[in-house]
Amino acid sequence: MGPMPRMDRKKMGWLLLALLLLLTGCGKREEPVTGGHAPYVEDAATGKGEYIVVGFSQIGSESDWRIGSTESFRSTFTAENGYYLIYDDAQQKQENQLKAVRNFILQKVDYIIVDPIVETGWDAVLKEAKDAGIPVILADRSVKVEDEELYTCWVGSSFEQEGRSAGEWLREYLKKQGREDEEIRIVTLQGTLGSTAQIGRTEGFGKVLEQEKNWVMLDQQSGDFTQAKGQEVMEEFLKNYDRIDVVVCENDNMAFGAIEAIKKADKTCGPDGEIIILSFDAGRAALETLLDKDINAVFECNPKLGPLVSEIIRKLERGESVEKIQYVEEVYFDSTMDLEQIIEERTY
Ligand code: AHR
Repeated sequence: MGPMPRMDRKKMGWLLLALLLLLTGCGKREEPVTGGHAPYVEDAATGKGEYIVVGFSQIGSESDWRIGSTESFRSTFTAENGYYLIYDDAQQKQENQLKAVRNFILQKVDYIIVDPIVETGWDAVLKEAKDAGIPVILADRSVKVEDEELYTCWVGSSFEQEGRSAGEWLREYLKKQGREDEEIRIVTLQGTLGSTAQIGRTEGFGKVLEQEKNWVMLDQQSGDFTQAKGQEVMEEFLKNYDRIDVVVCENDNMAFGAIEAIKKADKTCGPDGEIIILSFDAGRAALETLLDKDINAVFECNPKLGPLVSEIIRKLERGESVEKIQYVEEVYFDSTMDLEQIIEERTY
């Protein structure tokens, strides 16, 4: 038996989806569910084969960046643009992502998009998707698998480059301040351990650290990319180390938590303060904090990946080949720049 034509496959998919929704009671929901785990149908349209059905497994809503990312996918994969989006919020749990992908396979979606919380543990489920003939597109974070053919492609940031840029920026900044020969005491608030964003940023910054003999990494702990955990870890750092010169925050929200902790401890930070703060993402709130001089520099990470993934899907639909790895361009901002206009235009 040859491969099933799209119409037939789609009809069967809808039947199965309807059955699944009936069984789980999800079909009655009219408003998007943001809190629960169960997948819901984004659009009430009947489908009938005219939409490209896409299942998207999102990590959760741990940061401003993540909210921007979800918004980007929701506003791209609309019925108006020819899509039927099945969105799943994994609430920071890989087991939920694995379940979601398996549900997408059962529902016979046309494409699966995954933003994997951590890099490991994906081989089996990706093989299931491949065996079912469903292309998997990875967005933002990536996976470490035995066989790279288990996913179609990946699009996202060069996290390693972001980390390296932060280290190089710090080296130049210290030089300008005439502090290049001083001992520089650094702590890092890491993201979710084992995630591509954490691994890349830690490694990238680490490469510059290796070259700077008078930089000392006092401690590195995970703040899980959240403001609350970032604050908690920073409070510990401040208790344990009487002098900290630099805090590398692997995302904006942890930087906000760190600033809270520093202020609570009656210390100061930013270009006019005692502690240098570096952050990643460069969302609107972080740029405003840069303007308020509580952060020294932010390294951009672009969450607007929805349109790029849609372009990939369109190419695949036309039978064209796609690049296996696609990096998005990114810049950095520091407090010497004119930020007003950039802030105005920032949509996340
Ligand atoms: O994977 C991207 C990272 O995840 C962003 O830096 C962070 O804010 C998010 O939670």
